[in-house]
Amino acid sequence: MKIGIIGAGHIGGTTAKLFVDAGHEVAISNSRGPETLQDLVRDLGSRAHATTPPDAARFGEIVLLAIPLKDYPTLPADELRSKIAVDAMNYYPNRDGHVEALDSGARTSSELVAAYLEGARVVKAFNTIWFEHLKTQGDTSKPLDARRAIFVSGDDAEAKRAVMQLIEGIGFGPVDLGSLRDSSRQQPGAAIYNRDVTVAEAREIVDGNR
Ligand SMILES: NC(=O)c1ccc[n+]([C@@H]2O[C@H](COP(=O)([O-])OP(=O)(O)OC[C@H]3O[C@@H](n4cnc5c(N)ncnc54)[C@H](OP(=O)(O)O)[C@@H]3O)[C@@H](O)[C@H]2O)c1
Repeated sequence: MKIGIIGAGHIGGTTAKLFVDAGHEVAISNSRGPETLQDLVRDLGSRAHATTPPDAARFGEIVLLAIPLKDYPTLPADELRSKIAVDAMNYYPNRDGHVEALDSGARTSSELVAAYLEGARVVKAFNTIWFEHLKTQGDTSKPLDARRAIFVSGDDAEAKRAVMQLIEGIGFGPVDLGSLRDSSRQQPGAAIYNRDVTVAEAREIVDGNR
């Protein structure tokens, strides 16, 4: 599969390696330009190349968004239209500035992003796991229930399935939390946020038994 990545830091760089190792083709981008990513793509090998955010969006069947949330209005909305856009971003008011709709809970951060990315098929995922765990905890040899959980929310069932398949392919266990509205359950401060749990343990927490 062709995967675009916008943001080449902890999460973008880590997922790029996992996707390449799983056999996908990756186009990765940042704000400073592809020339600043040459070392990274050299390390990633021949299935990866560096590009700009609009080109990463055009390239990807799935496009991972891994930049500070405050910068979401710079995302290439035209190029992301109709694409599966995986929102890995988290709202931290100290870093991102206060957003009234998020502080009040009127909207989830992914709903905000989806409203901006008109026509994109937004799926929230990869936001609940620390990048060092993402780097090391995937294990395709384990049964799904015993794998580290990665939580997924979205309004487009087919897009969500595609992202869940991608997650399984890199050795994690996807756990579906529901719609983009329900993605409040995977935002900072939620019970499962940054919890090192298996799929089986995650289901218990989500079902309210723990
Ligand atoms: N760190 C984690 O463990 C973790 C876990 C889950 C979710 N997250 C979330 O994932 C997002 C990224 O976190 P991170 O830790 O990977 O951040 P990071 O290491 O600081 O990397 C951010 C990346 O985004 C790029 N970037 C910034 N503004 C951009 C823009 N307008 N257009 C394109 N690229 C831009 C930066 O490129 P330049 O340097 O060229 O600006 C950099 O490559 C955040 O929303 C964070 O909350 C982080």
